[in-house]
Amino acid sequence: MKIKENYSLLKFNSFRINVSAKFFVEVFSVSELVEVLSENIIKKEPILILGGGSNILFTKDYGGLVIKNSIKGFEVARKTDNDIFIEAGAGSLWDDLVGYCVNNNYGGIENLTLIPGTVGAAPIQNIGAYGQELKDSFYSLNGILLDNLTLKTFFKDECYFGYRDSIFKNELKNKFVITSVTLRLNKNFYPNIDYSALKEEIKEKNLSKISIGEVSKAVRNIRKRKLPDPSEIGNAGSFFKNPEISSALFIEIQNKFPNIKGYTQKSGMVKVSAAWIIEQCGWKGKSIGNASVHINQPLVIVNINNRANGSEILYLANQIKDSVKNTFNIILEEEVNIV
Ligand code: FAD
Ligand code: EPU
Repeated sequence: MKIKENYSLLKFNSFRINVSAKFFVEVFSVSELVEVLSENIIKKEPILILGGGSNILFTKDYGGLVIKNSIKGFEVARKTDNDIFIEAGAGSLWDDLVGYCVNNNYGGIENLTLIPGTVGAAPIQNIGAYGQELKDSFYSLNGILLDNLTLKTFFKDECYFGYRDSIFKNELKNKFVITSVTLRLNKNFYPNIDYSALKEEIKEKNLSKISIGEVSKAVRNIRKRKLPDPSEIGNAGSFFKNPEISSALFIEIQNKFPNIKGYTQKSGMVKVSAAWIIEQCGWKGKSIGNASVHINQPLVIVNINNRANGSEILYLANQIKDSVKNTFNIILEEEVNIV
């Protein structure tokens, strides 16, 4: 474990932005993490914890310490008649954990197949896709509070999970390092295929019984068709969250745009597709400088030829926000963490 100075973050963010960190270190165990946090040289520095860098936009060099979390591995923590509890190191790849659970027929995270990034980042925004969210299988997590270096466990109710939201994105932002996550998975797999795109994909196969492997494969196929691959073109998935608006505003918009689709939430608010809204504002496929709105999926901003800097990406995002506000009276909220 060595703290490096003026270290390039190019390889560590899926937007492929070429910035550097004043200090950078990769940690492989909790004890290494504690050791780093106790070093005098970095005690006054701001700290940024990095997983796979797939939900982050660097707009400038980072003037502090970046800690790349590589605490890996997973193990069965406990079993009951119906459930299995798996504890995974925060630096494990999320999709490796999904693969392990799918291969062993442990149900609960198969719809979250192929989401990039690490296990430790999954609770930060309560990752979700195709009708499942992390919170549905989440049991607890362990970590370290940065201000006093004490260990702390959070159980589900203490995390305040919401749509792409949690306590770790709010009160505890940059104040807590997640070191491991424990999930409670179901030994008796039951498919959850209500999400329209997933239902269609599975229906086409005419299966008599839907296995966990089939669900995972279907999600993988949809995602490969829909989303640009960060190894080919820099991006961080959906740039914005899908907005939830009041039913009154939804009806107002529907009068002008009869094609708008809405999904009423338990709260009574209506979730609408940000991709559709952005497309109506004429942004699909449009570029400003080296930043572009993806041609197939307007919710994704891409780094053309990986030449953009973070400010160019942010400028395009802000232009999109302005026109959505002017056309629909909706304020889009970023999903990506802007640094
Ligand atoms: P990073 O980008 O490294 O970090 C994200 C945030 O979490 C940062 O604020 C960071 O400081 C913090 N953080 C990371 N690790 C820790 C830790 N151990 N302790 C404390 N804080 C930490 N997301 C979805 O929800 N659903 C999707 O379907 C989805 N699809 C995607 C598709 C593509 C092509 C891409 C590029 C991204 C997609 N994402 C999706 C977003 C992203 O994959 C998730 O947000 C993922 O959880 C980020 O993991 P990461 O390790 O890369 O996090
Ligand atoms: N919707 C439903 N039920 C359905 C179908 C769609 O509620 O049966 C809702 C969705 O929740 C979403 C909207 O309708 O609010 C549009 O859905 P679409 O399938 O077009 O997905 P999207 O908006 O392009 C969102 C996520 C993706 C995730 C997919 C699949 C956000 C910001 N994006 O994308 O996550 O993979 O749904 O669930 O919520 C990411 O977060 O980076 C990301 C790629």
